[in-house]
Amino acid sequence: MKNIKNKILVTGGAGYIGSHTCIALHEADYDMVVYDNLSNSSREAINRVSTLIGQPIDFIEGDIRDADSLRQVFAAHQFFGVIHFAGLKAVGESVAKPLMYYDNNVNGTITLLKVMAEHEVSNLVFSSSATVYGDPEVLPITEESPRSSTNPYGQSKLTVEHILEDLALSDNRWSLIPLRYFNPVGAHPSGQIGEDPNDIPNNLMPYISQVAVGKLDQLSIFGNDYPTVDGTGVRDFIHVTDLAQGHVAALNYLTQQQQGLGFLPINLGTGKGTSVLELLTAFSAVSGQNIPFRFVERRAGDIASCYASADKAQALLGWKASLSITDMCQDTWHWQSINPNGYNIA
Ligand code: NAD
Ligand code: UD1
Repeated sequence: MKNIKNKILVTGGAGYIGSHTCIALHEADYDMVVYDNLSNSSREAINRVSTLIGQPIDFIEGDIRDADSLRQVFAAHQFFGVIHFAGLKAVGESVAKPLMYYDNNVNGTITLLKVMAEHEVSNLVFSSSATVYGDPEVLPITEESPRSSTNPYGQSKLTVEHILEDLALSDNRWSLIPLRYFNPVGAHPSGQIGEDPNDIPNNLMPYISQVAVGKLDQLSIFGNDYPTVDGTGVRDFIHVTDLAQGHVAALNYLTQQQQGLGFLPINLGTGKGTSVLELLTAFSAVSGQNIPFRFVERRAGDIASCYASADKAQALLGWKASLSITDMCQDTWHWQSINPNGYNIA
C-alpha cells in the first residue's frame, strides 16, 4: 500500500515553478496530482514533465475557485498536503485589473482552504513572495521583517498570508507554510522546461534571454542611480531547481511533524544580491552573445536592493540554495536557445 504521506495536490503545477517542482517531487518519491486551469501555462509543459519523469502526470484541468471540481479531486485522492502555486503574478496587470487578482489569488485560496478543511487535509505549502516585505529597511531580509505591499498583486499575497495566520490561530491542526520566494530564474538543465512568458517579459532574466536570442532588440535598464554597487537594482536571484528542492524540503519537514505547526513563513533565497549589470555580464559571458542595453528612468514601484536571509530555511528544513548565477544563466540560455518560442512549438 502507498504511504498516504506521499500524495500531494499541486495547484498551478503546469506553470513555471510548479512544473520544476513536479520533477523534484517525483525524484523525492512523492506522488502528485496536478490541478491547473492553464490560464498561464500549456499542456505541452505537462507533456514534457511526463517525458522527463518517464511516466504520465495525473493532470486535472480545473480552477481553484471551482469548489465542486476541487471536491471531486479531494474525494478521489487521499492527500497528505497541498502545494499551492496557482495564482496570477503580473504586477502591472494587477494594477489594471485588481478585482481579477483578488478574485483569483484570494478567493481562489479561500475556496481551496475550505475544501481542504472539509476533507481534513491540513498541510499547505503556499507560494508567497519577497514582495510582501515591500521596501525593506534592513538587509538581509529575515522572516520577522515588517510586511507591506505597494500593488494589488503584492496585497493579494499579503492578504493570503493574513488569512493563513488567522486560520492557524483558529485551529491548531493546521500546518501552513508560506514560502517567500525571492527572484526565481533559470530552467531545468535538460532545456525541456523553463519560463515561458505570454507577452513581452516584465522580469529581468526572461527579457535578457529574449534579447540574447534575437527576439527583442535591447534591454532597458530601469535606473543607474540606485545606492548599489554599480547604480543598478540588486536582487536575490535563485535557480528554479533550487526553489523546487525547497518545496520538497518543506514537505519532508511536514511529514516529520506529529502535530500542526501553525503559520510558519520561510524565505527561499540564496542570501546573495546580484545587480542588473552583473547579471547581464554573466549572461553575456555564458551565451557568447552581445546583449545591447540602454539606461532609462527607474521603474515605478521598484526598490534598490532586496536579498534574503536564508538562515531559517537552512536551520528548519536543512535546505540551502546550491546553484550559482552562472548556472542560472547557463540553464536559462539552454532553454531559450532550443525553445525560442517557448512551448509554442507550432
Ligand atoms: P505561472 O503563471 O507560471 O504558474 C501559475 C500557474 O497557476 C499557471 O500554470 C496558471 O495556469 C495556474 N493558475 C492561475 N490561476 C489559476 C486558477 N484560478 N486555478 C487553477 N490554476 C490557476 O507562475 P510561477 O512563476 O510558476 O509562479 C507560481 C506561484 O509563485 C504564483 O502564485 C506566483 O505568484 C508565485 N511567485 C512567483 C514568483 C516568480 O517570480 N515567478 C515570485 C514570487 C512568487
Ligand atoms: C518583480 C515584481 C515583484 C515579484 C518579482 C518576482 C515589480 C515591480 N515587482 O520584482 O512583485 O515578486 O518580480 O516575480 O514588477 N529590470 C530592468 N529591466 C527590465 C526588467 C527589470 O532593469 O526590463 C530591473 C528592475 O528594475 C529590477 C531588477 O531588474 O531592479 C529585477 O526586476 P524583476 O525581474 O522585474 O523583479 P523584481 O523587480 O525584483
